[in-house]
Amino acid sequence: MDLIIASKSEVRQRILSCTKISIMAVSPQIDEESITRSLVAEKATPRDIADTLAEHKAKKVSVKNPGTWVLGCDQILAFEGEIFGKPKTPSALNSMLSRFSGQTHRLITANVIYKNAKPVWRYVAISHMTMYPMTKAEIENYVAEAWPDAQHTAGGYYFEENPHLFSEVNGNWFDIMGLSIKPIVEFLNQHTTKSILQSPKLVAVLGHPISHSKSPRMHRHWLKTNAISGDYIAIDIPPQRFVETLRVLIGAGVSGFNVTVPHKEKALLLSDKRSARAEKIGAANTLVIDANGKINADNTDGYGFITNLRSHCKHWVPAAGPALVLGAGGASRAIIVSLLEAGAPKIYLSNRTQQRALDVASEISPIIEVVSWAHKEQYLTKVMTVVNTTSLGMTGKPPLKIDISKINPGALVTDLVYSPIETPLLKQAKTLGCSVVGGIGMLLNQGVPGFEAWFGIRPVVNAEIEAIVVE
Ligand code: ATR
Repeated sequence: MDLIIASKSEVRQRILSCTKISIMAVSPQIDEESITRSLVAEKATPRDIADTLAEHKAKKVSVKNPGTWVLGCDQILAFEGEIFGKPKTPSALNSMLSRFSGQTHRLITANVIYKNAKPVWRYVAISHMTMYPMTKAEIENYVAEAWPDAQHTAGGYYFEENPHLFSEVNGNWFDIMGLSIKPIVEFLNQHTTKSILQSPKLVAVLGHPISHSKSPRMHRHWLKTNAISGDYIAIDIPPQRFVETLRVLIGAGVSGFNVTVPHKEKALLLSDKRSARAEKIGAANTLVIDANGKINADNTDGYGFITNLRSHCKHWVPAAGPALVLGAGGASRAIIVSLLEAGAPKIYLSNRTQQRALDVASEISPIIEVVSWAHKEQYLTKVMTVVNTTSLGMTGKPPLKIDISKINPGALVTDLVYSPIETPLLKQAKTLGCSVVGGIGMLLNQGVPGFEAWFGIRPVVNAEIEAIVVE
């Protein structure tokens, strides 16, 4: 064990464990309230209060654990000469947020390391946090929805889930979360003879909604199996705040992003540098932030799509004949660009709303022929590849109504829908002798270039990761 953390906070434990520091968590059992009261009475500064509380926690645990580094942390919110901790009731949260609305407050994160009941190291980080003005109704809605999680954080705004509440943040993500990991890692590297530890890199997937995303599970598995210091989280950002919140997150030190519906087009527009394929598709799903905070945008959806088909169907030759693509949404654009790049000689594109398909065709290539949704079946005899890019057939969505009885049995049929793993379209195509490939492999493969760009190791797509993601 490298370190004891004198805290039962899950967030702090998670930050330490994603750096591979081996830890033990011990609750310090100190009376924070009475210590804080007497410090306030002595007119101690918020910085001193946070530092003293962190010190008390570390000391208490250190006395009982000689010979081991013990870390104590504390976080205090300071605003207009007052200090604020965790809200005790929903109405306390409401009045806190009414005070912070439209204003800048400080979040003070104190870290103290003890050994043999003596302080050996301390570090205090101060983050400046500016909240957007919130209306009374917005505060009430927030309190009603967020209370179960918000009650556990200083100030009650739960930054990890709600960075869009902030117009400006001057501070590091991990400091804001309550533990200054970078200087702690530096301290441990200087004072232990064990292998060198790395500060964690943080990557996030941004969408609206986002709770369904399987990306955190996938990237966290790759982080773990490759022993990389890092974390990957999902953040819901409302569309009207996407650009500003992305800037806030980059400023807080987030190293990279995946971007999903409905932010992909905006992500491309605000990037500083774009790959040719992202430009052609008109949307980005992968952002890499360089050392100067500049945004490099890529779109790996088409790569994921083609790699999935090639790895599951070795004899598939995209150039052998036309493709029929169903759907003309964001995913469809990436598929079409990648099929054309892979040599597809012609693409029949069919969409319920024909104008959308015509727009895609005119923006991407004259090789695309738009065909009517009502008559899409008649192209099944001529094509070598059939792709469903619509959400039809997904669990909870309407079925994809298509009669594929006349399909060319030499065709490859694939579906972007991966829930269920085998869609009715794939099941039927299989019985007609076609090769079929499910959509889950596209999700896995589109994540590979991003992971490699952020963390420096190319992850492996195999049956194990597939099972973990569909679980
Ligand atoms: P994505 O970016 O994931 O492709 P999208 O842009 O919302 O998502 O596109 C969804 C696709 O599914 C569109 O092609 C949509 O057709 P419309 O352009 O006519 O909306 C298609 N789709 C969704 N529901 C459909 C339905 N009930 N019948 C036919 N097509 C449907």
